[in-house]
Amino acid sequence: WIDAPTRVGDLLAKGVLGAENGEVIVSDSTTVNLFKLTSAILDGREGALLTDAGNFPTDRYVLEGLAAGRGRELRLFEPADTLHGPSPEDVAQAVAHADVALAVISHVAYSSGALADLKGIEAAAGSTPIVWDLSHSAGAVAADLSAAGARYAVGCTYKHLNAGPGAPAFLYVREDAQSALRSPIWGWFAQREQFAMERSYDPEPGIRRFLAGTPPILGLIAVQEGVKLTAEAGLPAIRAKSESLTELIVTYHDEHLAALGFELGSPRDPGRRGAHVSLRHPLAWPICRALIDRADVTPDFRGPDRVRLGVAPLYTTHVEVFDALERLRGLVELGEHELVDAAPSRVT
Ligand SMILES: Cc1ncc(COP(=O)(O)O)c(C=O)c1O
Repeated sequence: WIDAPTRVGDLLAKGVLGAENGEVIVSDSTTVNLFKLTSAILDGREGALLTDAGNFPTDRYVLEGLAAGRGRELRLFEPADTLHGPSPEDVAQAVAHADVALAVISHVAYSSGALADLKGIEAAAGSTPIVWDLSHSAGAVAADLSAAGARYAVGCTYKHLNAGPGAPAFLYVREDAQSALRSPIWGWFAQREQFAMERSYDPEPGIRRFLAGTPPILGLIAVQEGVKLTAEAGLPAIRAKSESLTELIVTYHDEHLAALGFELGSPRDPGRRGAHVSLRHPLAWPICRALIDRADVTPDFRGPDRVRLGVAPLYTTHVEVFDALERLRGLVELGEHELVDAAPSRVT
């Protein structure tokens, strides 16, 4: 079990992320991995921290904390086309200032589902390190990290890798970039000859240097099985299914939901979105509550006005998506969202 973080990391690297053995570990949460990685990169680089204003909150918060702690600037840029998210041109422009230390960008945007051009952005960034957040793409869209020239990435396993709530996240560092980085957490699982306990800290040369403490084995086994199933089905087939499922949502929106006040909040081109679709509506929150309470459909509310529908291509069927949309249409037509308790709740 002690090697599970690297063993499962290798499965994930080869079967899902398009990376090599020895480049991925599965451990900790996405937030912690992002902190470890960005902090290690900042040790060796001067300058500002960069991300887009629409990136996931934890990514912004981690950078905000690092910037505050190190007396650096956090620069939030607005993509020229907010619906489609950061483009290579946006990134080229943002890193054109010589003083950018690193940028953090999501492969699939949590809110709109926009799919970023990972390879194009890597090329546009030049020598500026990009740390990719693959949380919404891992298991749904191929990242092809090696082929794209990506050097750093993190992501969770509880979305499209189906490992369940709280399953550990992953961290990727390309082999040639590993030995120059030192995790800010000097833990015994990163130590060379971990059980030679009397020695002072001397981290492993490879990816293990980003481990910290004892791995969560039960969650890791769930990641292992989720990754195996994903690799067995194959990302091309999973991607084709997700494009078809999200296309069904878009078509249904155009035919039935637009007339009820909904607006598509995701890219229309299936090639430019991941495996979720946002439908915007001024009463999105009570509509989400009504879907959960009265229609047995579980969306996410993403403020201020989005009903986010995520499909899990491995097991969500077209009939299930169609039924969910019929229930959504039916309850809005009947005004059932006006009957629910719309008090704010801790989880949305
Ligand atoms: C894009 C993105 N990044 C990071 C996270 C946070 O992950 P964790 O809770 O594993 O730290 C999430 C959670 O949903 C996410 O969607």
